[in-house]
Amino acid sequence: MSATPLDQRDGWIWFDGQLVPWKEAKIHVLTHGLHYGSSVFEGERAYGGQIFKSTQHSERLKRSAQILDFEIPYTVAEIDAAKRLVLEKNGLTDAYLRPIAWRGSEMLAVAAQQNKIHLAIACWEWPSYFDQAQKMKGIRLDIAQYRRPDPATAPSTAKAAGLYMICTISKHQAEKKGYADAMMLDWQGRVAECTGANIFFIRDGVVHTPIADCFLDGITRQTVIELAKRRGLEVAERRIMPEELAGFSECFITGSAAEVTPVSEIGPYRFQPGAITKALMDDYSAEVQPKSKAA
Ligand SMILES: Cc1ncc(COP(=O)(O)O)c(C=O)c1O
Repeated sequence: MSATPLDQRDGWIWFDGQLVPWKEAKIHVLTHGLHYGSSVFEGERAYGGQIFKSTQHSERLKRSAQILDFEIPYTVAEIDAAKRLVLEKNGLTDAYLRPIAWRGSEMLAVAAQQNKIHLAIACWEWPSYFDQAQKMKGIRLDIAQYRRPDPATAPSTAKAAGLYMICTISKHQAEKKGYADAMMLDWQGRVAECTGANIFFIRDGVVHTPIADCFLDGITRQTVIELAKRRGLEVAERRIMPEELAGFSECFITGSAAEVTPVSEIGPYRFQPGAITKALMDDYSAEVQPKSKAA
């Protein structure tokens, strides 16, 4: 990614139904979404001009908004079309897309029943991780101080901006210690996920991953589970306690941005990215490739 700040680039952003010049896609400081975190978003990738699982992302965006008690005034099909349009207008084929919906400026009290709901979609070039051999060395993770919230205290399965506050703090703390990211536990002290990706472990040929009931059930997570099963691997979705990490041989994280990224270390625990991680990385790379229209 270039070092140019994100508000200073050239291109087009889809904003409330129009394509606007990149630098003009602005909001007012008295925006409810900014003050109270009333916004939801998606992160997705296009490969060879096709957005991977676009409709699933658009459906999740609508669902996240509904969980926050607002309705995005566009259908899933309209959001899918807007994403295709903005990708094409920017002349991109391999890119990251960021749709975001938020409550506007009509009221700035906590209650915002009448506020207009906005939707914007940006996209930019964000190549997949560089070199496979480098990637297979694995990334190092810290264990975050903050935990994923109890679903009884926050809308924990929505992709809501407010939930990322603890993720940014956790990621910053990890980076200050020289780690790439942090693994978060859930409110009951069980393994949950990373700050922007889900997590998987391997032991004796079996794939283990935490049950996604108090954090995002990632679209990449669901895809990788399907790919693993297609390979005949057993997938155990279950409660995982941090002490169990000592018994796993491989670990990787998954997300639209992270794709499938091997992990070599989590706090005191060590892993050796191996054959199953490599196979699932390859399967995922193949799966995201555009399917020919004739197929
Ligand atoms: C907190 C969190 N968990 C998991 C994921 C993975 O979700 P997905 O695979 O749908 O991108 C993401 C990325 O969006 C995330 O931000």
